Amino acid sequence: MRIGVFCSGGDAPGMNACVRAAVRAASKQGHEVVGILRGYEGLLNEEFYIDFDGKKHLTPYRVATWAAHGGAHLRSSRSDRFRTLEGQMYAAEVLRKHSFDALIPIGGDGTFNGAVALAKQWEGQIVGCPGTIDNDLLGTDYTIGFSTAVQTAVEAVDKIRDTASSHDRMFLVEVMGRHSGYIALYTALASGADIVAIPETDTNFPEIVSCLNRLKSSGQTMAIMVIAEGDEKGGAAEIDEHLKEHDCPFQTRTVVLGHLQRGGVPTPEDRRRATQMGAGAVAAIIAGMSGVMVGTQDDQCVLTKFEETFKSHRPVSLELLKVVNEMDS
Ligand code: F6P
Repeated sequence: MRIGVFCSGGDAPGMNACVRAAVRAASKQGHEVVGILRGYEGLLNEEFYIDFDGKKHLTPYRVATWAAHGGAHLRSSRSDRFRTLEGQMYAAEVLRKHSFDALIPIGGDGTFNGAVALAKQWEGQIVGCPGTIDNDLLGTDYTIGFSTAVQTAVEAVDKIRDTASSHDRMFLVEVMGRHSGYIALYTALASGADIVAIPETDTNFPEIVSCLNRLKSSGQTMAIMVIAEGDEKGGAAEIDEHLKEHDCPFQTRTVVLGHLQRGGVPTPEDRRRATQMGAGAVAAIIAGMSGVMVGTQDDQCVLTKFEETFKSHRPVSLELLKVVNEMDS
């Protein structure tokens, strides 16, 4: 079998570990893996990973060290051309021309949406792996990259707290999560932030300011608020404005962590999950499956139809949110 693997959408630490696992698991069973560069866009352009021997394949030896590498060696992109029916039909032609039997796309909701469209034009098998720092897909308790993103954000907040403390200031730290509060919630919990704002709940300024007043009158001289970029009241800059309008008792500064969270050496958790999912994708292909994502649930691989993975965003734990809110006294 010839299996194509690619990364698509926002890159996530651990994507390389996932590719490595797919290559090694497939090679062990006598299958060939070809790396498609730059996601769907690279597929349309017939861009493949060429090994030192000049051949377009990924060998177990080539990927030997990839588990520890951040970024996406296969590159990633978001393709406007592939969003059109013409692009999807052309992608299917390219897959036929290069004799692919199966595909492993690694990405998030946009990637799997694309996989559903491609499956209507192409007869091969498609089994995806969840790769997005946002952790917002249904059908899995984890998406590759989440742990590293949270670690990066927590390290940043630890540093920010030092300067916040020196200057008796409040910092509003914006983390990624276009539609999801996962990174913000976990970062707030792990960094000991005072307040968190996420898209899943109403961000109530009178309540936040009364909490800040309480903290200040209890002797606290600085504060940290973690904000998901997709909060319904806006990012750090907008929320800062709202707080000022509501007489925030602290002098404030804002920090947007942005793409910093997508880089760096993947944590052991990301490497482990990515390896399990990459191997799981190959096992699913060999078992004849198609049109599904390999997620995990309690350390077991579970398969979910692509359509089910993005029909809404995975809800955050209200219990965890309650814990953050209990910390503000
Ligand atoms: O990977 C998901 C994500 O990190 C979102 O949280 C964020 O809004 C988006 O990617 C931004 O990605 P880009 O700048 O690459 O379009």
